[in-house]
Amino acid sequence: MTHILAIDQGTTSTRAILFDESIEPVHSAQAELTQHFPRSGWVEHDASEIWDLTLKVCRDVAQKAGDTPIASIGITNQRETTVIWDRDTGKPIHNAIVWQDRRTSATCAKLREAGHEDMISERTGLLLDPYFSGTKIGWILEQVDGAREKARAGKLAFGTIDSWLIWNLTGGKRHVIDITNASRTLLLNIRTCEWDEEICDLLGVPMALLPEILDCDADFGETDLIGDSVLSIQGVAGDQQAATIGQACFEPGMLKSTYGTGCFALLNTGADLVRSENRLLGTVAYRLNGQTRYALEGSIFVAGAAVQWLRDAMKVIGHAEETQALAESSDPNQPVILVPAFTGLGAPYWNADCRGAIFGLTRNSGPAELARAALESVGYQTRDLIEAMRQDWSEESLGQTLRVDGGMTASDWTMQFLADITGARVDRPRILETTALGVAWVAGMRAGLYPDAAGFAESRAVDRSFEPGMTTADRAARYQAWSRAVRGTLEY
Ligand code: G3P
Repeated sequence: MTHILAIDQGTTSTRAILFDESIEPVHSAQAELTQHFPRSGWVEHDASEIWDLTLKVCRDVAQKAGDTPIASIGITNQRETTVIWDRDTGKPIHNAIVWQDRRTSATCAKLREAGHEDMISERTGLLLDPYFSGTKIGWILEQVDGAREKARAGKLAFGTIDSWLIWNLTGGKRHVIDITNASRTLLLNIRTCEWDEEICDLLGVPMALLPEILDCDADFGETDLIGDSVLSIQGVAGDQQAATIGQACFEPGMLKSTYGTGCFALLNTGADLVRSENRLLGTVAYRLNGQTRYALEGSIFVAGAAVQWLRDAMKVIGHAEETQALAESSDPNQPVILVPAFTGLGAPYWNADCRGAIFGLTRNSGPAELARAALESVGYQTRDLIEAMRQDWSEESLGQTLRVDGGMTASDWTMQFLADITGARVDRPRILETTALGVAWVAGMRAGLYPDAAGFAESRAVDRSFEPGMTTADRAARYQAWSRAVRGTLEY
């Protein structure tokens, strides 16, 4: 027996999962990450804590596996989160600025006013938004004393979390980033797959800071810090791209949607980079065997976070699992709609300033109606993304099947509503750890343990498919009500 170790460094926790020779998860270890909110709209992580916890969970899981050897390591991570560290000491010069952080919105607005957005979008596939790493780097260099000079002199290193972990795992020998993570920095020309000097200059990012860009299945270096033998890192991808791989969305038109705190839907557009007219993102889906494949991505900021809000702020549930039963008990004649714009709205609206709203309350509306509205908001927002994708990419097959994963997909009720409101068949896979699975497969394929893409796609098993049941008229009426509610929220 041989194992593949997948590291999944997410926004709220770090996990290590061992997959066996049949690509089945067999052991795992997990640690929660401290969230720092120094000011409203600011979100930080302690990069040293990220590294310490990652090493700990890797060692814990390696111990659980006993004598079974590990053939290779795959890494997947929260994307865009920005770390800058000193190359000599290996210490971060500031807390990591997390992807959710909005502190650079004024910088983005200034760049937009100066007319740079079109050029940046055209080259990077992204939008001028604080979500991405570029302006976060500029902020750290501006705020930390002497950082800009040190950066110019090549004494500092920038990385997303994959780079940071690989630097530490290899004892500072490798300063690299995988292409999918690089495509989220706002600094990458996603056609040439190289750093764009003009954009770096515009955002005040010295080239000397930047890591070497590698394919997802490249040689990322070796580590002797986990267990007794030297292990190679051979598969890396940002978490949403890793889930796309883990869901075997290898053909153009295949669509996956991951429901965590937020929701990220990626549509494989093949070798074509589609320029969105509907404020979706163009991004690298993966680069394997030297072939780049692109995706259109829609990001929603609040999915599972709506259930957390019911639990933590509204206190209408004690545990997330109660939401489904509560929603089932709601009065179907009360069409309450929740627009969960707690931190603004993501794709396709990209409005950072609007805030959440509830529509359609009556004297009888209570926790059950609120719970249903929270779960339904996830379906409505996914429909928004699919509508935008349909306008950008007019292949007929698009939107017929939606491959889903993430915590919220455990709720049958939510998945049925998703199928009903999108009109798509919703496929829930047997292995829900698709993010870790994606990089485990890449690393295991490189190590010669796992099959090629076609073989991997064939091995994928569906736990349950949800077929759309709602009538066309009902679906249209409900979606129109949602669209009116969003308009009201944006106008308020
Ligand atoms: O773009 C942000 C995304 O990569 C974060 O994912 O699963 O850590 O919330 P997650």
